[in-house]
Amino acid sequence: MPQPRGVSRQTPTTSLLRIFSVATAFLLTPALAQKKVTAPFVDQETGISFQRFFGAKTGFGFGIALPADTASLSANSFIGQLTFPLVNGAGWGGWSLTGDMEGPLLMVAWSDGKGGVISSFRQAFNEDDNPPEVTGTFSVKPIASATATNNTFLTYSFLCEGCLDAGFGLGPGVASTEMGWALASTAVRNAATSAGVLGFHNSGFGGFQADLAAARSAEFDTWAALADATPLPAAAGAREFALDQAGGSGATTGGGATTGGGATAGGGGDDSDDDDSDDD
Ligand code: HEM
Repeated sequence: MPQPRGVSRQTPTTSLLRIFSVATAFLLTPALAQKKVTAPFVDQETGISFQRFFGAKTGFGFGIALPADTASLSANSFIGQLTFPLVNGAGWGGWSLTGDMEGPLLMVAWSDGKGGVISSFRQAFNEDDNPPEVTGTFSVKPIASATATNNTFLTYSFLCEGCLDAGFGLGPGVASTEMGWALASTAVRNAATSAGVLGFHNSGFGGFQADLAAARSAEFDTWAALADATPLPAAAGAREFALDQAGGSGATTGGGATTGGGATAGGGGDDSDDDDSDDD
């Protein structure tokens, strides 16, 4: 008798075996299911090759690209790209140089309501208050050609100069480290200035493993040249970053980090993990 297409003949025993093997695979791979790591991602607008964390559940992404030469003048800089959904233009997203919120250098970004992005360096001293805006030896230069917002999405590409320092939570030359992310769907208060007040990251937050060795590329300086010439100023009232509070990892150089030579191709970068909201 002809079989309907796509239906294979199964005995009860083979069906049971299949159910058993699928169930076993789930039981044996909890560690894999939890893994949140960066993967290669190429920005179509600029051709920049990032190592990118992407949360399938929230749609939050953070990509990082580094210079190949860990001893060069630009070794303490990186190119970052934040991508995340907005709700009627509202919300904010950010990265942390470590897997923690309290202490390390943070950056948050939100829409300016006119197609652009406002970003701000922050440092959190507790988990209750809006982390204040901070200044220091770091600065940010937007990459305008790969920065845009609309009502539902934000893309922010930027050169973060002098942002890698063990004193900020992550130094240059580290091969792999845990970084952090956060996403909120609620509006920033006083959103017109970079000192805007943030509420809790109600859409998700957590850590991910950043493969920094693979984020290195000989093309870094070419990509960095796409950034604006002038760094963004902090709003009046920003306080000095408190080095003694930063804690975190990355105090050592991770020894023998190699030049990843630049991740090529590969459009993906999904963490294939729908458990990207650390809400336990
Ligand atoms: C008013 C603003 C904020 C509030 C009230 C807040 C609150 C909190 C709370 C309560 C936790 C711990 C939750 C738990 O362990 O169960 C947490 C964790 C976290 N937050 Fe925030 N947060 C804020 C802003 C930020 C910002 C701006 C960032 C980064 C740009 C950030 C990144 C993180 C990360 C990575 C964690 C996980 C690691 C940790 O527990 O320290 N947060 N936050």
